Amino acid sequence: MRITVIGTGYLGAVHAACMAEIGHDVLGIDTNSQRISALAEGRVPFFEPQLGELLARGLNSGKLRFGGSLADAAAFGQVHFICVGTPQLPESLAADTSGIEAVIDGLAPHLTRNCLVAGKSTVPVGTAARMAIRLAELAPVGRGAELAWNPEFLREGYAVQDTLCSDRLVAGVTSAAADELLRSVYAPLLEAGIPFISTDLSTAELVKVSANAFLATKISFINAMADLCEAAGADVVTLARAMGYDDRIGSRGLSAGLGFGGGCLPKDLRALVARGTDLGVGDSLHFLQEIDTLNMARRTRTVELISGIVGGSVQGHNVAVLGAAFKPHTDDIRDSPALDVAVRLHRQGAHVRVHDPEAAENARKVFPELDYAHAIYAACENADIVLHLTDWPQYQEIDPAALRSAVRQPRLLDARNALSLDRWRADGWTAWGLGIRMADPDTGTQVTVPATA
Ligand code: UDX
Repeated sequence: MRITVIGTGYLGAVHAACMAEIGHDVLGIDTNSQRISALAEGRVPFFEPQLGELLARGLNSGKLRFGGSLADAAAFGQVHFICVGTPQLPESLAADTSGIEAVIDGLAPHLTRNCLVAGKSTVPVGTAARMAIRLAELAPVGRGAELAWNPEFLREGYAVQDTLCSDRLVAGVTSAAADELLRSVYAPLLEAGIPFISTDLSTAELVKVSANAFLATKISFINAMADLCEAAGADVVTLARAMGYDDRIGSRGLSAGLGFGGGCLPKDLRALVARGTDLGVGDSLHFLQEIDTLNMARRTRTVELISGIVGGSVQGHNVAVLGAAFKPHTDDIRDSPALDVAVRLHRQGAHVRVHDPEAAENARKVFPELDYAHAIYAACENADIVLHLTDWPQYQEIDPAALRSAVRQPRLLDARNALSLDRWRADGWTAWGLGIRMADPDTGTQVTVPATA
């Protein structure tokens, strides 16, 4: 099938490469000409495992091409996927859908034969119905240009796997023909047994935002329990493990720590609250605001803990920060909890040196005021405290005994609860987690993290 992908950012680039991988002829277009040139030359403009190989395969086979206009896209495709961003509006909780509107307005006048326009971007419920009317009004082929909504559920760092082996496919459609067409696009995935849920436009839009709001709620829930564990002298890691054995709860997404960030969870949560309020159900969704507040409070609390650990103020202290990306396996620093903490400490007078295996360059562009180190040991040299803020697997490989000789004070705060604190302690470190009980090194009594500064 001939497919176009309009918007080749994170989502679009992955979708285009994956569609070529399953045998379609794909044309990717974007208003960002630099991005298009990079993709056309086989360069992935961000860090995403496996994407480079898929891109190369698609380009070499001739099934994948990048470049051209919306008119070219209209002439080429039978199915057009819209993959443009819907960021949070400045000064508002709501999502900005102007990118989608611009695509519909630009594409529709060129649609002279029947086709399907399938939105993949995350949008406030009701957007698709609005776009369907706009599309039919502006397209010369009229209602022959049909709109569907087919949300994506990919996680950064696992985007290829999540696209080709997704948990489920969701299609919001208004006709049997659109349903059939989307089923044929994804035929190899359906043959592999991936469930295909066909529904109306609004439900499809809502599946995505509800799923993200639920994931965010799960994370904030366990983080609230982490606070409780600290106060009660309990251990949130064991608590989460024990809870996770219940199939109805599950252990994934139940890791307590510094909280969630990134380009999706925070903004989708806020946009859902904003849209719910518009629709008159603000009271029912009010708790989601609390989820957001709890999440942001993790960062404040972590900064306070760090001050407490180093004696009341970070002013003049050397702080090593391990991790800048909003989570491991990505170079994405959007709304990164790790960088937020690093910058707050810097503003309080700490000398902050950051290491990240992939995201340091992106971080440096946005926060040039921080120091950056290429190697973990260099980041930790003379540190008064080492902070583990993004749980890259590389950090599990650190030899605490060896690192001890590099630092000024062997103090570790594992804000992701991913390192073996026992091992670090055995190697002479005073090591803290978030919501983790620890024995006082002097008295042997169970203590919690220090009182705030
Ligand atoms: C998310 C959704 O998972 C995905 O389905 C959707 O399509 C896009 O948004 P992503 O933003 O890539 O994906 O990240 P995810 O892996 O969900 O992690 C989000 C944030 O939550 C990260 O900052 C991560 O560190 C944090 N997190 C995740 C926790 O704090 N605890 C957990 O147990 C899991």
